[in-house]
Amino acid sequence: MSVRSAMFELARPALFTFDPERAHRFALNALKALPHGRPAKADGPLSIEVAGLTFPNPVGVAAGFDKDAEVPDALLSLGFGFTEVGSITPLPQAGNAKPRLFRLVEDRAVINRMGFNNSGAASALIRLRKRAGRADRDGGIVGINIGANKDSQDRIADYAVMAELMAPFADYLAVNVSSPNTPGLRALQDPAALRELIDAVSHARGKAGGRVPPIFLKVAPDLEAGDIDAIARIAIDKRLGALIVSNTTISRPDLRSSFAEETGGLSGAPLRRLALQRLRNFRAATGGEVPLVGVGGISSAEDAWERIRAGASLVQLYSALVYRGPGLGGEIALGLERLMKRDGFATIAEAVGSE
Ligand code: FNR
Repeated sequence: MSVRSAMFELARPALFTFDPERAHRFALNALKALPHGRPAKADGPLSIEVAGLTFPNPVGVAAGFDKDAEVPDALLSLGFGFTEVGSITPLPQAGNAKPRLFRLVEDRAVINRMGFNNSGAASALIRLRKRAGRADRDGGIVGINIGANKDSQDRIADYAVMAELMAPFADYLAVNVSSPNTPGLRALQDPAALRELIDAVSHARGKAGGRVPPIFLKVAPDLEAGDIDAIARIAIDKRLGALIVSNTTISRPDLRSSFAEETGGLSGAPLRRLALQRLRNFRAATGGEVPLVGVGGISSAEDAWERIRAGASLVQLYSALVYRGPGLGGEIALGLERLMKRDGFATIAEAVGSE
């Protein structure tokens, strides 16, 4: 265990006396206040190229932790290979009524029905512009996850606006059509709507001039075989940079916690099997033609390695950070290097899909 993780273990009981949202705010403020170093270097043994980007290591922070792009550099300096800010919507949005975030401690899980609470595009842009303009910027890969406002009359137009606004600051754009907490949002995973959406985002991301970031599409784990094949076909046809598999689930595998029946998306340990299965499904459906980002229930180097062997070029985590602290990213990266050597792989890329 790293020193950072040991310190988190000591602080956790106190942190868990706060309601989960306040504890999360506290964590963000602490990350802002602590001095931070440089991001991981991109030339080490764990580096991997995906969608034209060189990731220093394959372990990233999943969307939702840093919704408003407040702490990307602090997270990168803790050893994560990349971070995904958002979801960000065009207009600021309060989200659902509280309480809307629940720790299922016995299950090492989280249920959330936040509902895209975020401070909106303009506010995020202030921070992202400042970051881009810093002369001493060390880089590090930051994806921007975009969403639509709940009350929007034209959700596809919301994604297009977001793509145009965010493209200059995004190493990749993550199109989130899989949050269960915005009614109707997941209907954008239906083939006709999805094609239209991706065309709109693809067109809009080039409008600002300058860099044209790749598009990553984030899907739900609650999909049928037919949906998976259709999405895989679209991802290949539209040359998506990656598929992110997956968001939280509306299903409820066996849970022990008293919060088990709360409405919302379930994440953390009980999502692991389903997210792994969906990753395998997408690997088979895409025939390895589209890179995959594995997310859902990853809390150790072994979990990350299993996901990579099953076809993920990159992995992400969120819920495990609640239980183990933000030092976990660096720890998993270290562990991956050991597992890679143990199993006789010289690079992560070689191991992707090797199970
Ligand atoms: C999320 N997640 C999420 N995903 C997304 O695309 N946009 C978002 O705004 C959010 N918000 C969010 C809030 C909270 C509190 C949680 C716990 C999760 C989903 C997240 O990125 C990830 O896909 C799932 O949580 C599964 O990974 P873990 O948590 O099991 O590692």
